[in-house]
Amino acid sequence: MAQRFEKLGRQFPFVLAAGPDEACVIIAEEFDVVTARKQAREVAQQAGLSQKAGESLAVAISEIAHNIVVHAGEGEIRIFMVKELGRDGVAAVAADDGPGILDIRLALEDGYSTAHGLGLGLSSAKRLMDEFEIVSASGKGTIIIMKKWAP
Ligand SMILES: Nc1ncnc2c1ncn2[C@@H]1O[C@H](COP(=O)(O)OP(=O)(O)OP(=O)(O)O)[C@@H](O)[C@H]1O
Ligand SMILES: [Mg+2]
Repeated sequence: MAQRFEKLGRQFPFVLAAGPDEACVIIAEEFDVVTARKQAREVAQQAGLSQKAGESLAVAISEIAHNIVVHAGEGEIRIFMVKELGRDGVAAVAADDGPGILDIRLALEDGYSTAHGLGLGLSSAKRLMDEFEIVSASGKGTIIIMKKWAP
């Protein structure tokens, strides 16, 4: 996994700001979703996000973590503070080696699910975050990069 983040850092330099072990939550079962949510709230507070923004971040990260458990089996999420153009914020990078998302646009539509879910997780997470990007292809795993800015 560390190798993946190094590679990702070439495409998204801010990812390297996370450091190799900073706030890395291994996601393998439902309980890890709770840990990721807690971590999100903690980093949100450190970064000076408002209560509302912190809660949006926590919900979005929960959805992405839950998707890792349900659709990929296991993966990891790094949650860390970022500073860009004088703004403080929180970035989260989720990565898994699961089956990947064949059609990203379709997966982001409300109601689309391959697992008899409501199909609202990804679309809600995107709406709740300020920046949201999916890097994925069939058979290549999934990486989701998101940011929420203070306040
Ligand atoms: N990490 C992932 N790996 C592979 N496929 C994924 C991943 N995350 C999402 N997907 C795909 O995107 C679809 C939409 O995800 P979304 O979270 O919106 O819905 P869902 O998980 O099926 O249902 P729910 O509303 O319960 O979250 C999923 O059904 C799945 O096909
Ligand atoms: Mg989901």
